[in-house]
Amino acid sequence: MTPVSYLETGVIYCDDNLHRLSEFPAECIDLIYLDPPFFSNRHYEVIWGDEAEVRSFEDRWEGGVHVYVSWMRERMIEMHRILKPTGTVYLHCDWHASHYLKVMMDDIFGAKAFLNELIWHYETASGAPKKWLHRNHDTIFRYAKQKADLVTWNHPRSPWPESTLKKWQTDEDGRVYRVQNKYDKRYYIDPAGKLDDDVWNITLSSRTKERLGYPTQKPELLLEKIITASSNAGDIVLDPFAGCGTALVAAQRLKRQWVGIDISPTAVGLMRERMERVGALGIKLVGMPVTEEELHTLRPFEFQNWIIQRLHGTHSPRKSGDMGIDGYSFMEHLPIQVKQSEHVGRNVVDNFETAVERDGRQKGYIVAFSFTRNAHEEVARVKESKGVEIELVRVADLLAEKAELVTPESGRLFEEAPLPGPRPADSRPSAEELIGNDDSE
Ligand SMILES: C[S@@+](CC[C@H](N)C(=O)[O-])C[C@H]1O[C@@H](n2cnc3c(N)ncnc32)[C@H](O)[C@@H]1O
Repeated sequence: MTPVSYLETGVIYCDDNLHRLSEFPAECIDLIYLDPPFFSNRHYEVIWGDEAEVRSFEDRWEGGVHVYVSWMRERMIEMHRILKPTGTVYLHCDWHASHYLKVMMDDIFGAKAFLNELIWHYETASGAPKKWLHRNHDTIFRYAKQKADLVTWNHPRSPWPESTLKKWQTDEDGRVYRVQNKYDKRYYIDPAGKLDDDVWNITLSSRTKERLGYPTQKPELLLEKIITASSNAGDIVLDPFAGCGTALVAAQRLKRQWVGIDISPTAVGLMRERMERVGALGIKLVGMPVTEEELHTLRPFEFQNWIIQRLHGTHSPRKSGDMGIDGYSFMEHLPIQVKQSEHVGRNVVDNFETAVERDGRQKGYIVAFSFTRNAHEEVARVKESKGVEIELVRVADLLAEKAELVTPESGRLFEEAPLPGPRPADSRPSAEELIGNDDSE
């Protein structure tokens, strides 16, 4: 790929970041935060996928940690190239591969460019592991592009503890101090907060509104601290493994420019929604599947998520006995079934009709690439005999936003329907529900 000379911001790329990074101009980014798939997080890999083709986790890292490190190395070489001389990179990892990645980073950036090994300590897990201590931290390596003294740096601070605040006094010049001992030795403190060290205690509680159900989601506070520390307003922040977009959200709030990349269309869809909710305007998505051929190649759960997102629908909470209801339509909340296949036939219509009735509805949608004549006949029969209306929606019509998709009650059902406002947190699919969607076929 030939690098372009100008970098557009406010863009989310749906692609392998290696491919996209190689197109970025040299020295154009102020801050890179990356949170790549961890070396052994099998569960996560299987849920969200991180590759274009269908492969299992085991295939992917066959060959062990060295395969993983060389996969990371080629991407990190690009990141080093595109970082400004004043720029900083934060590499988020955990105990599985952190030591290997540190050696790789020293190799690419030079040991002198190493700035910090940050420990992000999070919520205590319950229960007692048999033979080891709870593994309750991640490691974040912080590197300068070249030399430490060039980097942008606003030392992060945390609020003083209550105990300190209680002892505050203000002197005749308005400076804050506390009395150190009985001889009235004044100890001056900065009211802006206590200087942070390299261990950060931050929790993404399961109860916070912030939680989206995206596995591996990081807390916004963590990203706000990183972005405030290593960039200024207007600077460009890049997250090449953006997930559900925590770094982009923090960048947007802090008035930085941003660019995100993720290989998963599901992640990109979630990110766009989340960025709109924090007021980002004119977001550009690049590389999302747009043709039937591209949609055919998606992994089943990605395809299903794509369709439901496209309909502005909600995912079906995966309960046993849902009989193949994959989601519900926007506004009317009618059942939707998604099939990543051609020639969907009579049986599918029959089974879905039963599911719709069990759900207490008189109407539902099946989305597929194509339907057989029998399927259409069955739709007519079901309507005639039971009064249940099953609409067969072809992916091609969805892509072309065809007029048949208008519903009498609510106007356009599909893409041009107004974007729904923020959904209540509990209507979002949990990680488990999305995992469940993986076997939709
Ligand atoms: C650990 S998650 C990032 C989570 C993110 N920090 C957040 O708060 O949501 C890693 C992400 O990397 C993406 N990914 C994996 N391989 C990729 C690649 N080659 N190019 C771009 N994205 C990739 C996955 O789809 C996943 O969303």
